[in-house]
Amino acid sequence: MASSSVNLEEIPSESLMNELLRRMKCAPKPEKHLILIGPPGSGKGTQSPIIKDEHCLCHLATGDMLRAAVSAKTPLGIKAKESMDKGELVSDDLVVGIIDEAMKKPSCKKGFILDGFPRTVAQAQKLDEMLERQGVKIDKVLDFAIDDAVLEERISGRWIHPASGRSYHTKFAPPRVPGVDDVTGESLIQRKDDTAAVLKSRLESFHRQTQPVINYYSKKGIVATLHAEKPLSDVTDEVRKVLS
Ligand code: AP5
Repeated sequence: MASSSVNLEEIPSESLMNELLRRMKCAPKPEKHLILIGPPGSGKGTQSPIIKDEHCLCHLATGDMLRAAVSAKTPLGIKAKESMDKGELVSDDLVVGIIDEAMKKPSCKKGFILDGFPRTVAQAQKLDEMLERQGVKIDKVLDFAIDDAVLEERISGRWIHPASGRSYHTKFAPPRVPGVDDVTGESLIQRKDDTAAVLKSRLESFHRQTQPVINYYSKKGIVATLHAEKPLSDVTDEVRKVLS
């Protein structure tokens, strides 16, 4: 049988130390299970890495996972591509399957941030069934409330690092070197669905199919509404207050 063990001697001391410090910092943190809901460009993907680091959670973004599947041309990616290009939602069964699998990762031990899922009431109900089996409850739903009019500028200036999902903006959050990821030095790209025409259809899907998901969780009394049109650091402060 092939061994999956890693030779620790080959890992640089600095990486080992950083990982050790991260684990010591994370050990006393309570578990958290969060959902981020908001229209395209509202800031979910921008705030997620900050929440992830501060609360030691895994970041599960269905959009990032689907884009990776599309670019690897997996059977899932081939099925999802057409809907994504048009700004429509992919089928509930496809996304429920990938989330169910992703939640089993060791990095989700302290809990998770669901970014872009659930997006329909049917997905929310499936999620409830999944979590009940695991004995887990959603602690908070962060509702990134924002006027549609602000979103076109956010979407058209966005550049992303596909491997990590990190988001930049030419005006609001520029990388240190234009077109280059701050962390890895790799090239940034623009998303195929980040056009004014596709944004229109994504917003239509959001209002028709995803807004009812906010009502679904409001009835459970776990929704915190954020002022997502504020500057990036103000939104981070609001998130910190809600999660403290
Ligand atoms: P997905 O990738 O989830 O896209 P989305 O929901 O449309 O969200 P975005 O990634 O566009 O926005 P964001 O809120 O993360 O914004 P960001 O932080 O980057 O989904 C893509 C597609 O996949 C869907 O259309 C669908 O086809 C499919 N899909 C995914 N999940 C699915 C599901 N569950 N069911 C079915 N289909 C599914 O910010 C945007 C820009 O603004 C950035 O440039 C950022 O730097 C900037 N910015 C962020 N915050 C601020 C601020 N406060 N002030 C100024 N600028 C800011």
